Amino acid sequence: MVNIENMDQRMEFSKDQIAEKVAELGAQITKDYKGKNLLIIPLMKGAFIFASDLIRSIDMNISIEFLKTSSYHDSLESSGKVQIENEINLDISKYDVLIVDDIVDTGITLKAVSEYISEKNPLSLKSCTFLDKPERREVEFVPDYCGYEIENNFVIGYGLNYIGDGYRNLPYIFSIRPKE
Ligand code: IMP
Ligand code: MG
Repeated sequence: MVNIENMDQRMEFSKDQIAEKVAELGAQITKDYKGKNLLIIPLMKGAFIFASDLIRSIDMNISIEFLKTSSYHDSLESSGKVQIENEINLDISKYDVLIVDDIVDTGITLKAVSEYISEKNPLSLKSCTFLDKPERREVEFVPDYCGYEIENNFVIGYGLNYIGDGYRNLPYIFSIRPKE
């Protein structure tokens, strides 16, 4: 179990549930992108664990580039601003691009990143997130591929952090909530 003071916690997804869902997503993406020039763009840092599992469940040749974004500053609420902290030095116009993230919450990050990538004229652009909290949406955004929809709880593990890089390396996903 996680040891966070003053927080109630609940196991949401086990290692096996995660593996099963990642395999499903990988199989679907393999099917959908057959014969295409797929470029995967994981958003750092949150997506790095999910993306590393996902690309190994995709049974075709892919390219990969990373984007570093930030919006959460060590709190449970989004700052509402997205910073893109690095450039992609690749001619994206030759690729079918799939943006990969850990979770869609307000939708602000994925919407901003999608607009940023769109301006570089990819052949096509889609998104894949492991989790989705539709209730929390502040801007319109629907991921093309999604592992699980969840309720409005803060989740940690499997790349998702709480305070610094806390709990990113948990191999399963927990939800946490301040004790009443
Ligand atoms: P959005 O811009 O509000 O959709 O949030 C996007 C980013 O916030 C995600 O890529 C995560 O890094 C972070 N985030 C949102 N919800 C959670 C959560 O429940 N746990 C940990 N990080 C989260
Ligand atoms: Mg993130």
